[in-house]
Amino acid sequence: MSNILITGATSGIGKGLTEFYAKQSHQVTACGRNQKVLDELESSVGAKSKAFDLTNREEIEDNFKDIDGLDLVILNAGGCEYIDNPNQFDGHLFERVMHINVISIGHCLDVLLPKMKSGGQLCIVSSSSAFLPLPRAEAYGASKAAVSYVARTLTATLKDIDVTLVHPGFVETPLTDKNDFPMPFIVSVDEAVGYISKGIEKRSKEIHFPKRFTLFLKLLRLLPFSLWLPLAKRIARG
Ligand SMILES: NC(=O)c1ccc[n+]([C@@H]2O[C@H](COP(=O)([O-])OP(=O)(O)OC[C@H]3O[C@@H](n4cnc5c(N)ncnc54)[C@H](OP(=O)(O)O)[C@@H]3O)[C@@H](O)[C@H]2O)c1
Repeated sequence: MSNILITGATSGIGKGLTEFYAKQSHQVTACGRNQKVLDELESSVGAKSKAFDLTNREEIEDNFKDIDGLDLVILNAGGCEYIDNPNQFDGHLFERVMHINVISIGHCLDVLLPKMKSGGQLCIVSSSSAFLPLPRAEAYGASKAAVSYVARTLTATLKDIDVTLVHPGFVETPLTDKNDFPMPFIVSVDEAVGYISKGIEKRSKEIHFPKRFTLFLKLLRLLPFSLWLPLAKRIARG
């Protein structure tokens, strides 16, 4: 039985992972803000719950102080907001997205790494939007590019802890329910949980899915920016 902590456990991918691991009798600590969903997870699958805001450093310290001996930490919580008009750049939106997607990861690493067992595993959920500069994703894409950079650096520098970086394509969750554009090759939460849990089991350094989408983006990434630019402008025009 492993001791697992998951952030963003009240919805979408994180909720799916929480149910998956708790049903296998692992000891799971589920983190989120939605107390009602956390209570349901506690009664349905026996996950211990921590309700707090990850953008508040004191709340992170307070809620993690009694935790120790972690085998697996999944930093999955995140938020997505788009910059609809880059000529009216919204600095507050940019700050909100950076805060939950990047800064909170730094505070979680600071507080949680000393609480992980030697030989433990750290899984960080980024996004395939980190691969390319995509229109409207000036905040979200930049935040995920930063997260991927942090995870890759930790893969090279952390001693005694394996790092698994996750680059999902589109997954059907409340985060993507709001999207008003086509989402090619979108997968269900169950499929996402399957890809992620298998990659975690293999201790993969990177998990990306679905490959028919992420490999295409990885290929596009190889284009020189001068070739990518006209394509990005076309996507921006819609
Ligand atoms: N869905 C996709 O297509 C997709 C694709 C690529 C990457 N991702 C990434 O995958 C991760 C999970 O996404 P999802 O689609 O499952 O999103 P989701 O359904 O919207 O869930 C987001 C989770 O993050 C938590 N969260 C957000 N802000 C928080 C805060 N300030 N403090 C504490 N918890 C907070 C939410 O908890 P509460 O609601 O309880 O506050 C919720 O549990 C995110 O990092 C996202 O960027 C998703």
